[in-house]
Amino acid sequence: MYKKKTCKYSLKKLNTFNINVNASKIVQVKELKQLCLLYNKYKKKNFPCIILGEGSNVLFLKNFYGLVIINRIKGIYISESKKYWNLHINSGENWHKLVKFTIKNKIYGLENLALIPGRVGSAPVQNIGAYGASIQNFCEYVDIINPSSKKIKRINKKKCNFKYRDSIFKYSYKNYIIIAVGLSLSKKWVPNLNYNDLKKLKYSNITPQLIFNYICNLRKKKIPNPKIYGNAGSFFKNPVISHILGFKLLKIFSDMPFTLEKNNFKLSAGWLIDKCKFKGYIRKGVMVYPRQSLIIINKFNNSSGMDILKLAIKIYNAVGKKFEVWLEPEIKIIGNYGEINPYIFFKKIR
Ligand code: FAD
Ligand code: EPU
Repeated sequence: MYKKKTCKYSLKKLNTFNINVNASKIVQVKELKQLCLLYNKYKKKNFPCIILGEGSNVLFLKNFYGLVIINRIKGIYISESKKYWNLHINSGENWHKLVKFTIKNKIYGLENLALIPGRVGSAPVQNIGAYGASIQNFCEYVDIINPSSKKIKRINKKKCNFKYRDSIFKYSYKNYIIIAVGLSLSKKWVPNLNYNDLKKLKYSNITPQLIFNYICNLRKKKIPNPKIYGNAGSFFKNPVISHILGFKLLKIFSDMPFTLEKNNFKLSAGWLIDKCKFKGYIRKGVMVYPRQSLIIINKFNNSSGMDILKLAIKIYNAVGKKFEVWLEPEIKIIGNYGEINPYIFFKKIR
């Protein structure tokens, strides 16, 4: 069994919120065999285990009494057909480096997803997305392993159930680990400039490199660098609500931004948070980032996970009361023994 007093290895540099918590054991793995051996050894001892890429989508509330596996299993393998480049990427590769690598090798399509932190293996979990693209647009399959049985399964794109910030990997295959991702990129490049901020790039000689540069600059202006201000990107998802509630809200808030998704309204959580006057709000060193209200920062990098969670709950309650819209956290919350169901903390008030 795990012992609380031996929980002495720091996770501060391994989570982008820069929360100062410890784990009982932290091991970086570079090979699949090593990952399976380790996992089984600690599972036998009844140790809780979690796998992390760069910890850029997690909030540690407390010390973690278990094993943290840091995935650095690398390798990029390219093959081609007449129309496509096919990439098989091991899950410990850095996502942004992959995007740069593809563009350097004249393989285009991932430029809209530049500068998203994290490793390739985490990318399908929440179907990472930005600037009108998401990994589901390119993903052919996800390879997973059950480390106990060493059984490997290939999950084809349809079975991944990709949706906005969602996939099957959040619900099923909990005992599996993503070991590789297969992407397919068309040899015929078509720029993806549908996102509002990119419309000004609609000129004839636009290139993937120009889109890449533009998005990197835009992100650097809007999104805080976790090395300076701890954060995990958007704390909440943009809510999708019924058209009935959407029209009701539009009658009261005629300037409310929204997009139509099938029969539903997708709202901007940042705008809802602004309307509740949280932009720039700070308490106990935890701040709503003034340039992007969806991002909560650990301004002095010395706040606790609980301080961050408390502000998030305050925002959730305020937005819920004002708009009848109950935000859903995007990030994963981790406690003493593993992931905690967020709905323990985020409860609708009637
Ligand atoms: P981690 O935080 O390490 O892990 C996230 C979850 O995935 C955990 O539950 C973990 O256990 C699980 N996991 C990790 N590896 C594996 C594996 N191999 N197998 C199974 N499960 C695994 N996201 C977007 O979608 N779009 C954005 O524009 C965006 N911008 C961001 C900007 C900033 C500054 C930050 C800090 C975050 C941003 N994010 C964004 C969120 C984050 O980048 C993504 O969620 C990313 O995919 C997380 O990668 P990671 O390796 O750090 O995952
Ligand atoms: N807005 C505000 N106030 C704010 C922020 C946004 O009013 O403080 C409104 C504005 O109307 C703005 C619109 O929201 O035009 C959209 O803002 P932005 O382009 O910054 O995008 P977002 O919807 O706030 C989403 C993703 C980001 C992703 C960007 C770019 C979610 C939860 N977040 O943010 O992803 O980088 O779009 O595509 O979908 C992440 O998931 O961690 C993340 C950073």
